[in-house]
Amino acid sequence: MAKILIAFYSRRGENWVGGSIRNLSKGNNEIIVEKIKALLPDADVFRIETVKKYSGNYMTCIEEAKQELSQNARPELDARVENIDQYDTIILGYPNWWGAPPMAVLTFLESYNFSNKKIVPFCSHEGSGLGGSIRQIKQLVPDANVTAGVAIGGSAVAHCEREVNEIVAQTK
Ligand SMILES: Cc1cc2nc3c(=O)[nH]c(=O)nc-3n(C[C@H](O)[C@H](O)[C@H](O)COP(=O)(O)O)c2cc1C
Repeated sequence: MAKILIAFYSRRGENWVGGSIRNLSKGNNEIIVEKIKALLPDADVFRIETVKKYSGNYMTCIEEAKQELSQNARPELDARVENIDQYDTIILGYPNWWGAPPMAVLTFLESYNFSNKKIVPFCSHEGSGLGGSIRQIKQLVPDANVTAGVAIGGSAVAHCEREVNEIVAQTK
């Protein structure tokens, strides 16, 4: 049977929410993943996490992320997916950072062979939508079947059932 992996990056701490800085005890993508998992209880979940954590301070993190982007960095991740071959579909969630996925997501994509697998991206954001992320993902994993993806407003994750349904629909 087709097996699904939900892989996501999400950062706790201060973030930009609907026009002001707020301290999030749970990241937006974490909340979205809980909603996806409720619809796909058999899916496995993998949290993409860096060895060196980003600052919990929003302004500092903005600078850290900007520097990594300009250096085309590949931050080291703290864990690997066990036996990626068992999954034929990967739902991939991440925040929009400077119009792109966090560089840790690029490290993740370069760490496995995604040939002939389906990748369903979703991206939480504060106005920039999916940014250039779908094009970037397609460039990094040209042999995967990358779907159109789904953008979710970060300040609206408490009520994103329509978008979550769309993510699940793109796995079919
Ligand atoms: C370093 C950094 C850069 C960001 N850059 C953008 C951006 O370019 N466009 C945008 O719409 N939102 C941007 N945001 C806001 C996040 O995309 C948004 O808050 C997202 O929902 C966070 O998801 P998370 O809580 O799962 O990490 C940025 C946030 C951070 C921390």
